[in-house]
Amino acid sequence: MQTMGAASLPSCLSYQDNRLMMGELSIKAIAEQQATPFYLYSADAIRQRIHDCLSAFSPVGVAVHFAVKSNSNLSVLRLMGSAGLGADIVSGGELTRVLKAGIDPGQVIFSGVAKTDAELRQAVEAGVGQFNVESAEELFRIDRITGQLGVQVNAVLRVNPEVDAGTHDHITTGKKGNKFGIAFQRLSELFCMAGEMPQVNLRGLAMHIGSQIVSIEPYRESVLRMRQWTEQLRAEGYLLDTLDLGGGIGVDYGDGRSLCFVEYANLINEALGGLDISIQLEPGRSLVAAAGVLVTTVVATKQAEPRNFVMLDAGMNDLIRPALYQATHPLIPVLLSNQRLEEPLDVVGPICESTDCFLKDYTLPLPEEGDLMVLTMTGAYSAVLSSTYNSRPLVAEVMLEHTNIRVIRKAWTLEEQLRLEE
Ligand code: LLP
Repeated sequence: MQTMGAASLPSCLSYQDNRLMMGELSIKAIAEQQATPFYLYSADAIRQRIHDCLSAFSPVGVAVHFAVKSNSNLSVLRLMGSAGLGADIVSGGELTRVLKAGIDPGQVIFSGVAKTDAELRQAVEAGVGQFNVESAEELFRIDRITGQLGVQVNAVLRVNPEVDAGTHDHITTGKKGNKFGIAFQRLSELFCMAGEMPQVNLRGLAMHIGSQIVSIEPYRESVLRMRQWTEQLRAEGYLLDTLDLGGGIGVDYGDGRSLCFVEYANLINEALGGLDISIQLEPGRSLVAAAGVLVTTVVATKQAEPRNFVMLDAGMNDLIRPALYQATHPLIPVLLSNQRLEEPLDVVGPICESTDCFLKDYTLPLPEEGDLMVLTMTGAYSAVLSSTYNSRPLVAEVMLEHTNIRVIRKAWTLEEQLRLEE
């Protein structure tokens, strides 16, 4: 059984006179202007996280590239760009977004496990700063495309460090058998091959061992391995001046477990001291997760055994993380009431799937039809993962900046969706 106490509320939320506030505005007032469900982000909270991240990592010489996949809304990307962050992208679509948001292509890292020729060409032409190469085959394709276009590019090899990040199986990427990265046994061979590619400037190594990592140990293990392989390749005569450590920093989804920027920065300082190398990070979730909520309305309650149901107007098409990764997003009321008794409930959505369940056996004062609620910690991998399943249009995204409310993505209409079909 779980519940979220006020003590563990994300810092952009608070209760004042029993009303849930984001910053200085009551969420009820915001919901009067926007139909639920909708995503609501705090620009101030994102800025604060960027500031915390840069204050931890800049002193140890780390350049921060926001992982666009975690939240690719143009307004979020503009916030990142204006704070001086680069971007980590995984597709041509994400490249188009970051360029539109005004991020310098030279500050863009192109990750992505199966980049198409068209995407590679788009990125080379745009002047993307670095290609994180996932295989020998991709290296050959980059060589061919840069040769055709007559352009030089920077690249690093993404290594599979064979470290278990201890996260949910669906979001671990650095174990043997995962589709990502190159086996460390092949690094030397690939550096040798790149020596014959005049347009490909192979400058170092990259890793990304998984996401939502809450223990420093897997990082310690893999960063030390990256150091060892860098030194080995240098000893073989190759020039390496770049090390990309990927993303993965975990946040607190209500169980009190997270990884703090400063702890990771200290580890980098310790483990890579004296290596004389440019270090990059690609955090996504840790910059935006806590700054977002999904505002939703209780459509119905239903008496049942063994527990009563609370049925929301948001479904797994709007927020799939609980169904896909058994993730928890704490649910809290927009108006607190002392009158209602707490009881364990199952909180579900309206989709015709049993996996459309946000929280099971979750203790909450029983809400009533029409009550506004929010699912917290939904700034990352939430709106970006939504779908139109059950012919439900994508919901709006709203950004709160001080007391200014801006719709940063309109809700889709059904007409707009149907227009694309015959
Ligand atoms: N760099 C690379 C190469 C990545 O693949 C990822 C995330 C990141 C950086 C950013 O990782 P972060 O700092 O956000 O943990 N949809 C899943 C998470 C998938 C993460 C995929 N890669 C979820 O909702 O938990």
